[in-house]
Amino acid sequence: MVNSYNLKDLVYQLKPKAERRQKPLADDELMAFGKMFTDHMFLIDYKDGNWINARIVPLQALQIHPAAKVLHYAQTLFEGIKAYMHQDNEVYLFRPDMNANRVNRSADILAMPNLPLEIQIAAYHALIDVDRIWVPRQEDASLYVRPNMFATQAEFGVSPSTTYTLCVTLSPSGPYYPGGFNTPIKLLLTSLYHRVAKGGTGQAKAGGNYAASLRPFEIGRRLGSKQVLFLDASGIYVSETGAMNIGTIDADGQIVTPPFTDEVLPGITTTSVLELNGKHKLKVIQEPIRLDEMVERIYSRTITEMCGFGTAASVSSVGRIILDTHDPLSAKLLQEEKIIMEDGQPTLIIGNGEVGEMTKHVYTVLTGIQRGKIPAPDGWLQKVERNFSD
Ligand code: PLP
Ligand code: COI
Repeated sequence: MVNSYNLKDLVYQLKPKAERRQKPLADDELMAFGKMFTDHMFLIDYKDGNWINARIVPLQALQIHPAAKVLHYAQTLFEGIKAYMHQDNEVYLFRPDMNANRVNRSADILAMPNLPLEIQIAAYHALIDVDRIWVPRQEDASLYVRPNMFATQAEFGVSPSTTYTLCVTLSPSGPYYPGGFNTPIKLLLTSLYHRVAKGGTGQAKAGGNYAASLRPFEIGRRLGSKQVLFLDASGIYVSETGAMNIGTIDADGQIVTPPFTDEVLPGITTTSVLELNGKHKLKVIQEPIRLDEMVERIYSRTITEMCGFGTAASVSSVGRIILDTHDPLSAKLLQEEKIIMEDGQPTLIIGNGEVGEMTKHVYTVLTGIQRGKIPAPDGWLQKVERNFSD
């Protein structure tokens, strides 16, 4: 286990002690995902080819020039990491090295500068150490860590910015979906909209990918779905949802998840589940999922479960796939009698629409590892050392 990181020249400009949170969050204080923030944030700037001015400061609004490139051309990336309170009263980050690597991969894709992994990881540790009182103790809660790099150069020319800031904020969070693990979600399947393109930025956690997902997200939300299930550019294969990778589960418990093409984000949750293949009674493979075959197999009940994988979403059960009546795909599937109308909506019910046994098992294994209840593979958990005191 890697224990401590050292960020040279980190400056602490903290809130007066009396103004910082003093007590752990009570049950009625804890909010849903991503709505509450801790006392401090980490900032580091990029200028003249160097990362400078690393600092932890009180959480506050940022000053940004109205011509900053991020505001016009969306040159921005972000990450999502979780830290968990374990029974030993210590805080553990889950695989932050993987996220730090993905920051740089996203940065490459968006023509942004890399930030050395040791600086990123040291920043996560240092900030959580300062704000450790905020790490939720509650069963299904965790501290969500959100690094975000963005272009700050004020210029209207379309070219990569020469200056950037990386900001890390922390959000004590309950489950991503309000119903929690026991409430299966609905996905809106769309053949009309794509969030990324072949040869595009799908492998990056690029802000623009999420902006592109919002129109179909809104259509789905009006119809009761929580996420949009996108097809790849060919329209033949299932790719992923707007904020999670997906997996189908066969009647014999085999989990299948699509390969990380340039239209599928290489998820750390999915990668972790893949790395657990053969352990904890998990059978997981990465294989293209043809839409027509998936529909047929859900219909004939050889696929009996489906789930989403993500840091925010953890392992989430998918009970139904719905379609918009305006989507030509829905007419096709209705004609083939592969889907039914339920509450006026073309619907594909997965298994019996409830949380499946294998989905529950993967969730239990993964969260057990993250929360220190099941031994973690080497290097998966990093303890946040108590280096800070004032
Ligand atoms: N796919 C998309 C589009 C996402 O936003 C996320 C969330 O981060 C994932 C997949 C899952 O990735 P990870 O497991 O690394 O959080
Ligand atoms: C995550 O799971 O960390 C994500 O980034 C998904 C979503 C909140 C955008």
